[in-house]
Amino acid sequence: MALASRLKEDEPLGVNLHGTSLVLWRDTAGALTAVLDRCPHKGASLSRGCVSDGKLRCGYHGWSFSSEGRCVEIPANREGMAIPRRAHRVRYPCQEAHGFLWLWWHEQSDLDIEAVPALPPINHVPEADDPAWRSMEGETFWSAHWIRILEGFIDLTHVPFVHKGTFGGAAADQLYPSAEEATTDSLYALIDTPRDPKYRSEQGNLIGRLKNTLFGSKNNDSGAPAGSQHLHLWLANFLLIRVVFKDFSIYLCLVPVPLGDGRTHLLWRHFRSFLKSPLADGVALKRVLRFLEEDRYIVESVEPFDPDLDGRVDLLLASDSMTIGLRRLLREKRDANLVR
Ligand code: FES
Ligand SMILES: [Fe+2]
Repeated sequence: MALASRLKEDEPLGVNLHGTSLVLWRDTAGALTAVLDRCPHKGASLSRGCVSDGKLRCGYHGWSFSSEGRCVEIPANREGMAIPRRAHRVRYPCQEAHGFLWLWWHEQSDLDIEAVPALPPINHVPEADDPAWRSMEGETFWSAHWIRILEGFIDLTHVPFVHKGTFGGAAADQLYPSAEEATTDSLYALIDTPRDPKYRSEQGNLIGRLKNTLFGSKNNDSGAPAGSQHLHLWLANFLLIRVVFKDFSIYLCLVPVPLGDGRTHLLWRHFRSFLKSPLADGVALKRVLRFLEEDRYIVESVEPFDPDLDGRVDLLLASDSMTIGLRRLLREKRDANLVR
């Protein structure tokens, strides 16, 4: 997967997934195509080529590929020379939704592109141009397993410790979900804002801090309104955290993309319902990057690198119910050969 904004109209985009390099581009109607990022001619990276008239052209000798992945032109061929079958590329199913490009990664050469399952029924993600929200996005690389990263974000009891300098506050024992739901492809938990006034004031002060920074005003609204935190996780790999207070909300989408080399490409989109001027982006971005860095520092230290889905290594307790739930879902997917 990739951020949809990374794919420009006339430029191919190289992405990596499970150690496989793929290239994506758009045809003239805007439809997406993804194929292996390797030219069948002499092996050049197709993402170093260009897109013209909706076709991907290799940057080495100019072979050109249609949105079906078929090689449609070999400039050095003399008239009447045939294009060999091996010159065509197999397409990988891909589509755009929620500000991301979604790829169905597979190892079969004969996958029926129409038979790929639909995207999970993700909801609540605002459109980028929704005037009720100001959105930002970014990407980073972590030396951690994608499951460890997801587990880090669905576990709120780390917040008072990992984020004590930003929005942590106290109250680890008040961060149990008050409601949980699971389907075969998703998990949901509702966590009420802790009664602990320190935690609440830290959360509520997001606005105050931004206002203070931007306008120099003293905002002491430490009696923050009660709120709730919604964690929604859809397999594969889409996490939406919604922090909802009476007068403001913050949503964060997180997508950890496994690169297959011990690293994970972490994509994020962030939405805020307050201080929607672009002038506030600098402060908001600094804040997001700071807490992501706090998470990265601790999650990259976790051993073993691969979480044991059968639960014999980590000592998981009742407060880890979301992690336990995720591992259960992933065990089912593993047993059905859908995750590795
Ligand atoms: S390597 Fe791509 S056209 Fe020659
Ligand atoms: Fe965190």
